[in-house]
Amino acid sequence: MGPMNTPDNIKPVRKAVFPVAGLGTRFLPATKVMPKEMLTLVDRPLIQHAVEEAKAAGIEEFIFVISKGKEILKDHFIKHEALTKTLEARGKTQQLEAVKSCEIPADKLHLAYQDEPLGLGHAIWCAREFVGDEPFAIMLPDDVVLGDAGCLTQMIETYNKAGGNLVAVMDVPKEDTNKYGILDVHSDDGKLADIKGLVEKPEPENAPSTLSIIGRYILQPEIFEKLSGHEKGAGGEIQLTDAMAKLIGEQPFNGLRFDGTRYDCGHHLGFIEANIAYSMHSPKIGSQVKEIIEKIANGTEEKIHVAAG
Ligand code: G1P
Repeated sequence: MGPMNTPDNIKPVRKAVFPVAGLGTRFLPATKVMPKEMLTLVDRPLIQHAVEEAKAAGIEEFIFVISKGKEILKDHFIKHEALTKTLEARGKTQQLEAVKSCEIPADKLHLAYQDEPLGLGHAIWCAREFVGDEPFAIMLPDDVVLGDAGCLTQMIETYNKAGGNLVAVMDVPKEDTNKYGILDVHSDDGKLADIKGLVEKPEPENAPSTLSIIGRYILQPEIFEKLSGHEKGAGGEIQLTDAMAKLIGEQPFNGLRFDGTRYDCGHHLGFIEANIAYSMHSPKIGSQVKEIIEKIANGTEEKIHVAAG
C-alpha cells in the first residue's frame, strides 16, 4: 500500500505531526528533567513507538511540536556518530541495528515550538509552516495500539480510497465520554462512520454517541484556517476537535474503527498496563514475562528473608 497507490485526486500523506510539548506532570517525579515521551515502553521510548508506526505507514517527514528543553526528543533520532563507530569497531551488529532503527535524516525531522500550553489545537497550528499545503497525519504518542497492522497504516489505506479527513475511533464506556472527542454520526457501516458532528469531552448525558477519537488523525491543510482563530473550547483550551468540527460539511469526514487494542499511556496505570501487554506479546521475551507475572500474581516468587542475628 502506501502513497504510491493513491488515486490521482487524493493527495498522499507524507508528513506526520507529533504534539509533544506537554510537561508530563502526571508522571512526576519521573518527568522532572526527562520528557514523558522518553519513558520506556518495554524496550524503546514512547516517541519511538509512534515514529516507527508512522514510518511503517509510509510517512517520510516528521514534525515534533515541542516546548523548550525537550530537544532530546530530536536527538534520539539523529545519527550518533561516536556510538555507531564504537559498536561497529566492536562488531556489535545487533546493537548497531537497534541504534540505526531509530535514525531519521536530519532534514526530515523538524522541531516546531509551542511556547505556551494553550491546547492540542494550538500545538497543531504551531506546525503549520512545516506541513504546508498538503494532507498530514497527527500522532499522539500517549495512545498506543497493539495489533497486527499499525493503526496509521490502516488509516492511510482507508484514506487512499476515501480521501478527506479521517480520525481513528473506538467505542468507550458511556461514563468516559468526558475524556475524549466524541462523534455525532450520520451513517456507520461498523468500520467506517460518516461524521456529522464532533464534541470535545461532553458529559455522558450530553454525548451524541460513545464513539471516541483516539490519537491518530489524517487532516487536510484547511484545518489551519479553522485553527487560526485561536478560539478556546472545553477546559479553556484551543481544541483540535472544535477546528475539525468546522471542516465538516465542507470536506468528507470519517471515523475509522481500527483493528487492535489501544492503551492509554497518558496516566500511570494505563502506562503500566501497556508495558505488561506489550511485553507479554513480545516474540522475544513474551513467554518469560508471562512466567514472571504468574509467579508474582500467585505469590510464588522466591522470597528471601534473613532473620536478624
Ligand atoms: C485529546 C483530544 C481528544 C481525543 C484524545 C485521544 O485529548 O483532545 O479529542 O479523544 O486526545 O487520546 P487529551 O487526551 O489530550 O485530553
